[in-house]
Amino acid sequence: MDFIELLEKRRSIRNFEDKPVPVALIKEIIQDSIKAPNASNKQAWNFIIITNAEFMKKLSDISRQGFIDSVKRNPDSPLKEYAKGLENRKEVNCFFDAPCLVYITGPTNVSTIREDVGILAAYFMLSATNKGLGTCWIGMGGGVRDKAVLKEMGLPEGHHLIAPIIIGYAKDGKIPPMRDRKEPTILKIIE
Ligand SMILES: Cc1cc2nc3c(=O)[nH]c(=O)nc-3n(C[C@H](O)[C@H](O)[C@H](O)COP(=O)(O)O)c2cc1C
Repeated sequence: MDFIELLEKRRSIRNFEDKPVPVALIKEIIQDSIKAPNASNKQAWNFIIITNAEFMKKLSDISRQGFIDSVKRNPDSPLKEYAKGLENRKEVNCFFDAPCLVYITGPTNVSTIREDVGILAAYFMLSATNKGLGTCWIGMGGGVRDKAVLKEMGLPEGHHLIAPIIIGYAKDGKIPPMRDRKEPTILKIIE
């Protein structure tokens, strides 16, 4: 797959085959992703790999409620209607029943950790695409605050969940077409 094809094939996938992704394959993708640039080469990121469907649903339920509560705290939120719709839909799995969920995490005291993890996550998703897997960053899945649950997840104190990414084989190999991109605004060219 050439680079442009890889960029086009990396689409957010939300419908998966009921087929497990071997942890060894996830580890290969992690090895690719750590080639990402990161401030001062600190490589402060960490990973949590979850393939247990029951645990994933528990995290989805907690995150879903956290999302609803956070929208409620902000009466001007543009997500108000969406959050309201979610309130009575306990069956919703914000991880789309993916066979695997990877959290990329990092220490809160590294000032560039969000940027570092953001770039790493892009590498992660592109590497997965290159291996025939589909991914989707699930921002809503990062809303776990309960200390006992975070401990169960293996997250050390002073670290936070940054990028929750689901990963699996796209149902029937279907990759949706790229959603429209707006023409980028170049504010100024100074020559
Ligand atoms: C920070 C971030 C958070 C996202 N959160 C969600 C989410 O909670 N649920 C979801 O279905 N997709 C989520 N997405 C996926 C975006 O909706 C998707 O990337 C966007 O629509 C463009 O589609 P594409 O990835 O196929 O190019 C998120 C993406 C990013 C980068």
